[in-house]
Amino acid sequence: MAMLVVFLSLIAFAAFADNINPPSGMQQVDPRKVSQTPPFDKPGLRRLPDGSYEAYYVSRVFSFTPATLTIPLGSKVTFYVTSADVVHGFFIPNTDINMMAVPGWVNEQTHTFSKSGEYLLICHEYCGLGHQNMFAKIEVR
Ligand code: CUA
Repeated sequence: MAMLVVFLSLIAFAAFADNINPPSGMQQVDPRKVSQTPPFDKPGLRRLPDGSYEAYYVSRVFSFTPATLTIPLGSKVTFYVTSADVVHGFFIPNTDINMMAVPGWVNEQTHTFSKSGEYLLICHEYCGLGHQNMFAKIEVR
């Protein structure tokens, strides 16, 4: 019991004292209204004035929106991801992108695509019976 109290206290200390949070700009979104809330009402790729890109993704059982995305070779892309239902994974092998899609939160990570080809975006958090079919494709060219 004493060890349990020690461990839980350490977790609470780390979370509150060090302000540990999801990998996010602390941006929140109502998971029940994701499809009406900009910019998630129109998920996809947006070009910024500096030439970089933002990619907005919505995860829900058992798919990602957009299901396919084309990214120009050499682009720096910041991915913003949320979930409309349960916790999902958001993993693009061979890139820096590996995060969770958490209902209520917008998580973000950035990667520069310097190799052309087809990339797979997969859910790597078990989210239900169709989990293994939850993926999307990204084409870099
Ligand atoms: Cu979504 Cu596993």
